[in-house]
Order: sequence, then structure tokens, then C-alpha cells
Amino acid sequence: MAQKFQTPSGMHDLFGKKTKYFDKIYEVVSNSARFYGFERIETPIIEDTKVFQRAVGNDTDIVEKEMYSFKTKGDDNVSLRPEGTAGVMRAYIENNMYTKPQPVKMFYFGPFFRYERSQAGRYRQFWQFGLEAIGKGCPTIDAQIISAVYGMLKDLGLKDVIVEVNSMGDSKCRGVYKGALKKYLKKVKLCPDCERRAVTNPLRVLDCKQCVEVKQNAPQIIDYLCKSCREDFKKTLEFLDEMNVVYDLNPFLVRGLDYYTGIVYEFFIKDEELPLALGGGGRYDGLSELLGGDERAASGVAMGVERIALAMEKMGVEIKEKKPQIFIAQLGDTAKKKCLRIFETFRKANIPVYESFGKDSLKSQLNQANKLNIRWAIIMGEEEAIKNSAVIRDMVTGSQDLVEIDDLLKEIKIRLKNKK
Ligand code: HAM
Repeated sequence: MAQKFQTPSGMHDLFGKKTKYFDKIYEVVSNSARFYGFERIETPIIEDTKVFQRAVGNDTDIVEKEMYSFKTKGDDNVSLRPEGTAGVMRAYIENNMYTKPQPVKMFYFGPFFRYERSQAGRYRQFWQFGLEAIGKGCPTIDAQIISAVYGMLKDLGLKDVIVEVNSMGDSKCRGVYKGALKKYLKKVKLCPDCERRAVTNPLRVLDCKQCVEVKQNAPQIIDYLCKSCREDFKKTLEFLDEMNVVYDLNPFLVRGLDYYTGIVYEFFIKDEELPLALGGGGRYDGLSELLGGDERAASGVAMGVERIALAMEKMGVEIKEKKPQIFIAQLGDTAKKKCLRIFETFRKANIPVYESFGKDSLKSQLNQANKLNIRWAIIMGEEEAIKNSAVIRDMVTGSQDLVEIDDLLKEIKIRLKNKK
């Protein structure tokens, strides 16, 4: 027998129940994002590796350890995108979007790749949706993005959502804080990676999964914020209060990417069995310049679709689907041909119907209709086909009516309306 294959480690096929959650999440997110003025953008799955090195930062786990990077046949160094913000900013700059009214608001929904140790909620290919507002930054925009996502999660049926917030300050006040942090880190025991990071990029130590205890006694950035960063942070929190967003201050939240300035946040569910962040984001006013653009404020968020789907499943959120109430059953070649046409008539009328054109036995088709809890079956045998008619059988009461094919749609509509 030929070799059988499996999905690569940490990657999954999406089908059945999972895709139902994904479709629902997409529906809620795209409707809501458009309402808030975000237009869809999809960037390539692959970018020049430097886009991520510069944007996310060379000392981050993502760039150091988790990127799928390779050389193309044309000798270009590229990487599968580990996140979406860098690509969207590259697109903003490349497509001169600064000529549009600012901020340019964009949302995306697609797969991303990180070579992480796979475990529940952490995969090597995962999906994110993200919102990015580029070209203008202020506490109102930050708060509106947080509140938009908070509302989406609620619309998806999630309860006990909480947002952890902190501020990273701007380049000036963060510089002062980094000095204090470096001093502190010299005195404590660090993992080998952090020994190096303590010198090159000390903030990354606060994000290390191994040096968790180190951060408990570390100086807190909130004490080092300059007046304008503190004011901005305070204003954003006031807006969140206004919009009834439940949040917690977390002075150690630094996020795993280097491009943040100002407010940062992560979404969680207050449930020990769902410990991983559903998503996160913040302000990133310096990213445009890092990618060769001019000075542009920006703000955004990205959410893990698998983690949201997991939370929905755990909370027993049911996806209500418009299930067909009609089944088309046929017997014989002439009837099959006519039923194919009837199926198309219903599709054009936007009335969902089930069929089983692959089956020839009427009994097994009606058994299937019963299993699907179908209310009405349209049954056509050779005799009905010749007379250009079909039987509508009420599968609950067993009553049957013979109707002309031309009247089928009308008759079914009447039954659907009256439900009897
Ligand atoms: P991030 O925190 O790296 O931020 O990722 C956002 C979310 O993506 C995470 O909270 C998580 O739900 C999901 N995620 C990340 N890695 C994995 C994984 N290996 N398996 C499953 N889910 C995962 C960003 O990506 C930033 N680009 C967010 C942002 C947008 N900041 C500003 N704009």
C-alpha cells in the first residue's frame, strides 16, 4: 500500500465544526469592522524577511526562533508571515496610502506561521484577524479599536472577557526605563537568551517564558512615563470606562513584538482553563519609519481565530444555521434530470434544499431526509416526471399533494410561510 501522509506538526485541516466557528467569526468580524470603517486588505503570505526583522525586532522570539525563512529560486530571502502588522504597513507605504484620508483603516483575516512548540491553542499555522488604523493616532482611536474587538467577542457569545492594559511609553521615556531595567537585570539570574537580551533589548526579558519570576521585582514602566504618555494612557482608560470595557492594569505587559509605543493590551477570558491570550495589540507610531516610510502614527490589534473558536466551543456557543427544510428525492433517469432543474430553481430563489442525486433508491433518499429532520420532501418518480409533476410529502404528517412542476416553488413557499 502507498505511504499515507499527515499534516505537518502543529498544523491542522479545517473542516466540519471548526469551519463553522471560523465562518461565524469571519461574519461577525467583517460586518463589525466595516461598520467601524475598516476595509479589507490581504497581503501576501510571504514577505521579504527584512520586513519582519525590522518591524517585529531581531531580538524577539518570533524573529529569532519562530520564522519559516527560506531562499527562493531567485535567491530572495523571504519568510512566511508570522504576523500581519508589518505586511500591512509595508502595503500602506508601497501603495502611497498617505494620500488617502487618515487614518487608513484596514482589516484582515488569514493564516499566519510561527515555528512554535505546538500545544493546545498554540500552532505552527494559525489564523488571525486584525484591525490596523494607520496614519493618525490618538487615545480615541486606540480605545475604539479595543472596544470594537470587545464588542465582536461579545457578539460571538463569549463571556468574562477582560483586557489587560499597560503603556510602553514613547522612545524617550522608554529609554529612561530601559536604563533602570538594565541596572536591575544585572543583579538577577537570567536564562542564557536573556543574559544577552538584558544588554541588547532588556524589555524582551519581561516577555520571556522562562524568566517569569524575574519580572515580579523589576521596575515598572508605568513609573517612568513622561507627562504626555501618561495623559494619553489615562485618556484611553477613561474612554474604555465610558464604553464599559472591562480592563485590568498589568504593569508587566510588554507584548512579544518590538514595534509598540504607548498603550499595549491583551484580551483574555477569566477562566483558568483558557489561559492563553485571545489577542492583543497597541500603538506602533515608529513602525512606518522602520519600514522606510515617513513618520506616521498607527494603532492596531490581532486576534487568534483558533483561540476564539476554542473559547466559543468551551462556553457551548451554538452556531445557528439556516437548515434546509426541503429534500428533493427522485427515481429514474427522467426524474433525475428534471430534479436537477428544480434544484437550480430553488437555488435561484435562495431557498436551501438538500438532495441526494447520487442515490438511486427512493427508500434510502427518504431515510436520509428523515435523518436530516426535513419537513417536506419533493418526490418525483418516472410517472410524475412524464406528467411534469411531483409529489410534496409532509414528512411529519405523511400527507401528500401532487403538484405541477411549474407550481412547485409557489407551493413550497406557501408551506414555508404557513409552516403547515
Ligand atoms: P500577537 O500577540 O503576536 O500580536 O498575536 C496575536 C494573537 O494571535 C495572539 O494573542 C494569539 O491569539 C494568536 N496567536 C499568536 N501565535 C499563535 C500560535 N502559535 N497559535 C495560535 N494562535 C496564535 C500580533 O501578531 C500583532 N501583529 C498584533 C497587532 C496588530 N499589533 C498591532 N496591530
